[in-house]
Amino acid sequence: MTGTPLTDAVRAYSRSTTARLHVPAHGGGPGNPPLEALFPGLCSWDVTEQPELDDLSHPEGPLAAAQAAAAALYGAEDAHYLTGGATQGVQAGVLASLLHGGALLASRDSHRSLLGAALLADADVVLAAPARDPKFGVSLGLSPRTVERAFLEHPDIGAVLVTYPTYLGIAPELDAIARIARDRGAITIADAAHGAHFGWHAALPPAALAEGADLVVAGMHKSGGSLTQTALLLEGPRGTERHAELGLALHLIGTSSPSYLLMLSLEQAVQSALTQRERLLERAIAAGEGIRSKARVATGRPQDPMRIALQFESPTQAQESCSALAREGVRPEYLEDATALFIVPLGEPPALDGLARVAAALREPAFAEDREAPPEIRRVRLGRALRSRRERRRLVEAAGRTAADVVSVVPPGIPALWPGEEISPQAVEGLARALGQGRRVMGIDQGWLWVVAE
Ligand SMILES: Cc1ncc(COP(=O)(O)O)c(C=O)c1O
Repeated sequence: MTGTPLTDAVRAYSRSTTARLHVPAHGGGPGNPPLEALFPGLCSWDVTEQPELDDLSHPEGPLAAAQAAAAALYGAEDAHYLTGGATQGVQAGVLASLLHGGALLASRDSHRSLLGAALLADADVVLAAPARDPKFGVSLGLSPRTVERAFLEHPDIGAVLVTYPTYLGIAPELDAIARIARDRGAITIADAAHGAHFGWHAALPPAALAEGADLVVAGMHKSGGSLTQTALLLEGPRGTERHAELGLALHLIGTSSPSYLLMLSLEQAVQSALTQRERLLERAIAAGEGIRSKARVATGRPQDPMRIALQFESPTQAQESCSALAREGVRPEYLEDATALFIVPLGEPPALDGLARVAAALREPAFAEDREAPPEIRRVRLGRALRSRRERRRLVEAAGRTAADVVSVVPPGIPALWPGEEISPQAVEGLARALGQGRRVMGIDQGWLWVVAE
């Protein structure tokens, strides 16, 4: 068996003359001529559970071996393939950790997948404001100081969800947070949707497992090179104590027909990382560092050198610079107010001269954590607010009301409003601005949103 047992098994099946009298209905290609014409041969690889192809719900053959290779890449006790994105991993990790009770501690700027996780686990959520750079307001993620305080105020916290790194690539102090949680008997779940590649190169921040996280959601499609919708859930030495609960959670949340195409892409991404990660990262890191050094971007925390978060003087300057780059065919990951994020892909980076020029024209943003700000910690029953009687309100008239749904600007999908939160005039203003900039806002439909009925 080579290093890609799943690929080998599917290849053999796709080349065999077996009459496929089983799902999927495209029958390996003939059942969908336009798709076959678009991607010749692809359907023959789109298989489903067969004895020699294993079964993700009870992996014993090539899928078990493929997952073992993923575990080996990260030094994990075990690894689970996910075809429902990091969302599935966050939800399964939280449900498995809190199946027998306990509250969830998470940063206020966690990804919206937290809502589903809290609903599934029927858990209260202790939402804590992330540490912020005082000058630019950039989130530096959950801080150990806030986590200490949250445990004092809410001793029933059973799991801590840490976004590692933040969307802008900043790595919070996961090691210190995991230590605090461990001392209190709580599980640390790292949402590494943007940090699957951490630890793959000396210039990158350490991997979440190495920092002491118990469960890690590695967003392979966002940062590890596999196809969109794929991720890994990794078990560390303490996380593996929840192995049975994780199995249950993954059965509950995942599809019973995980895509072999997606799983093949996971296997290939893992194989590629195992055999050539230095080569894949070398140029991307050098390109990212080159531009970041021109803009002198620094936060005082370890950062992903491949994420270039530029702080412009004003939203207008950001818009104008990004429009100029768009004319040169350069598209950012995201643009919000005066911040634009550019992500250098793995492998051979494209020409980045225009971006380097824009970066060089910026002044130095010196990020630093605002240690004076008292930690803001609030306990919310997201589920109760979501299920409460609701009515629609125009955004412009919503200040002072309680949000009944999650409202988030996408990307990155970090909620501006969580269910149960009072809608502040600042939130209304920020959302109106995002809509005015033509950004996608989930939870607002034609200017209307859901609030708890009075
Ligand atoms: C921090 C974080 N966690 C989880 C997710 C969900 O990832 P996916 O889209 O793979 O489900 C995202 C998506 O943007 C994210 O930014």
